[in-house]
Formats: sequence, structure tokens, C-alpha cells
Amino acid sequence: MLLQQLFASRTQRMKASEIRELLKLLNRPGLLSFAGGIPDPALFPAAEFSAAFQDCLTPERQSEALQYSLSEGYLPLREWIRGEMARMGVVCDVDNILITSGSQQALDYLGKLFLSPNDTALVGWPTYLGALAAFNAYEPRYDQLNPGGNRSALSYRQAAEAAGSQVKFAYLSPDFANPTGQTLSQQDRDALLDLSEDLGCAIVEDGAYQALRYDGDQIPSILGLEIARRGDLELCRTIYCGSFSKTLSPGLRLGWVVAAKPVIAQMVLMKQAADLHSATLNQMAVHQVAERCFETHVAQLRQAYGNRRDAMLAALQSHMPQGITWTRPEGGMFVWLTLPAHIDAAALLVRALDEENIAFVPGQAFFADGNGANTLRLSFSVLAPEAIHSGVERLGRLLQQA
Ligand SMILES: Cc1ncc(COP(=O)(O)O)c(C=O)c1O
Repeated sequence: MLLQQLFASRTQRMKASEIRELLKLLNRPGLLSFAGGIPDPALFPAAEFSAAFQDCLTPERQSEALQYSLSEGYLPLREWIRGEMARMGVVCDVDNILITSGSQQALDYLGKLFLSPNDTALVGWPTYLGALAAFNAYEPRYDQLNPGGNRSALSYRQAAEAAGSQVKFAYLSPDFANPTGQTLSQQDRDALLDLSEDLGCAIVEDGAYQALRYDGDQIPSILGLEIARRGDLELCRTIYCGSFSKTLSPGLRLGWVVAAKPVIAQMVLMKQAADLHSATLNQMAVHQVAERCFETHVAQLRQAYGNRRDAMLAALQSHMPQGITWTRPEGGMFVWLTLPAHIDAAALLVRALDEENIAFVPGQAFFADGNGANTLRLSFSVLAPEAIHSGVERLGRLLQQA
């Protein structure tokens, strides 16, 4: 018997990520890639990390750094996060914070926490494809979250009930979302809080790009708005997921969750069962680097990525033919293009690689319902402004022919 025949039913919805498969092809010479949504390695605070790891491995600190530690996370790091969250208007205790191995682990745990098979998760159309991958393992039903739209709580509830389902949470990334780059207005954040109250469901707020704003005013986080409404985090339905990946280093795999204590307590049990705790040494090093240079480092990132965002928007303005529309992100790493309905972005990618030596991510994988064949995601995070211009010019040429 093939072992595949023994796999659990949940594996049927686990598919290879189009982005991961694609990233394997991206080392051709001269390729200009808008595909990976990754930080620019040239901007890592490498010298600070080198010093921090050395400090953590001195004789006084090494027995702590190399030892097992608390599932909740390294206390000084949670204290640093508490300060950072307070600056964002989210007042919490360290007991409201769990350190995770990247925010991706938090998404997996939240799927595990809330979703029994056929439970409903509301997600954007499109949404972060890693969130779909994390939730898929728990065999949910999806419905379309559209906070600016006019769909009522009743219509969500009726649609769920008709499918023998219940809405458990709404997932979204309100600031500079992956893949669209769009930001949710404060009015729409308030409307979402109303919706979650009417539905009695949770909100999973993914703040992965939150620190990377290049212009415009910061909008309070959904969790911050809910605390202002209810007066106490313990009464809130919103669960905030943060990450050090886009600010300090994705390779160290550190993120965090802020939520009411019963939620954190249950997630701590999951953490114990899954990996006991995130790497102690990494948590100590990230704490040291964050203490010493988080603000100045993030200011540098904003400057560099903001210039690239500007270069991409200017290049799109110059080179896109009529009939193509795109988002104008105030932060993050992505611009989202909508092509005329007859153009298939996956087929276009094959030509883009062959004829123009450029890459992007076709948009379909970001839709829970498999639509969006005429959309694509461009990332501006790793290319210099001149390369962005050249790549967008090539894309424009290709689209002109298509
Ligand atoms: C919106 C969003 N959330 C979460 C993640 C996961 O990030 P990490 O696990 O590195 O914190 C990503 C990574 O690209 C992302 O784009």
C-alpha cells in the first residue's frame, strides 16, 4: 500500500505554493524579479546581529541562550513588544503576548484554535496566500470579506447556515496588505468591528507590514480601536499577529500574538505541543537588536523601500498600456495589477520569463475561489529603482502585445 493512501483528509487541501515553486526558478542570470515578497538582504542589520549573537554567547549568558526556555517567549522580548504595542495604542500585559516562530506559526495556530472542518473563515478576495495555506489544513469553508462593501452580518450568517457552517473569524492584513498593498480606512476598520460584534466572530489582524509606512497618516490598529471601544483587551475579539520578518530578519523566524489571556493560554498549549518554544538564542538576539536600533533601522527601511515604491509607481505610469489598473500602496512591498479580463497572468508569466527575463506572481493563488486569473502581484522590495524602471518597461512591452 502506498503511504499516500494513509494521509489524513486535511492533506488534500495542502498544495505547493506557487510562489515557492517559482522562487526555485529565479536564479537565471539577468532576471529582474518582482516575484518574491522578501526583504532586501542588503538592508539587514547584520553588524548589529553579529554583535548581539556574540554577546548572547558570552560565558555569562550562554547557558541561558542555549537552553530550553518558556513557551510564552523570552520575557525581555515580550516586554519590548509590550512597549511597542503601547506606542500603537494597544495597552497590554506581557501575559497577553505569545512569541511565535514567525507570524506564519500564529496563523497556523489560529486555524487550529478556531476552525473545525466546514467552519467559515472570512478572507479577502484576494488575501495572503500563506494564510490560506495555514487555514486550509483545518478544512474550512471561505466566504468573501469586503469591509468597504455593503454585505450585512445577516447575509454572512445565512450563507454560513445554508452550508451547515458558522463564521469563526475574519482574517485580514489592514496595512499594506499582501498581495494588494492596500490599507483599510479607519471607517472600514470600525465597520469590521461592528460586523464581528454582530456575527460574534473573532478578527485576526495580520500586522506583518504595519511598520513599513512611506507616507500618509498611521491608522490605528483594529485591536487598538477595539480596546478603545471596550475599555479592556480582555473583552476584545481581535487577535493581533506581529512579525520581526519585515523589519529585522525573516530568517530568525520570530513573530508574536497579542490577544485576551484565555486565547494566549490556549495558544501556549499549542506551542508546547508543536515546538515547545521559539529559539531562545534568536529571541535574545532580536531583543538586543530591537532595543538598540529598531526605530532607526525601520526609518532606514522606510526611506529605501519608499524610494522603490515611488520608482515602481512612476514606471507603471510611464509604461503601462491603457486598460491596466494598479494599486497605489502607502507602504509595504507590493503593487497589485488588474489586467483586461482576457489576459491570463499565469500564461503571461511564461512569456515574461522567456521573452523579457522578468518575473512576477500571477494573482490567482491569492483567491480562495480560484478566480483572479487576470491579476498579478509586483514586489518592489529587492530591486534598485533603475532595475524597477527597466523591469516595468519590459512588462509594459509584453502587455502591449497581449
Ligand atoms: C501578510 C503576511 N502575513 C504573514 C507572513 C508570514 O511572515 P513571517 O512568518 O515571516 O512572520 C507574511 C510573509 O510574507 C505575510 O506577507
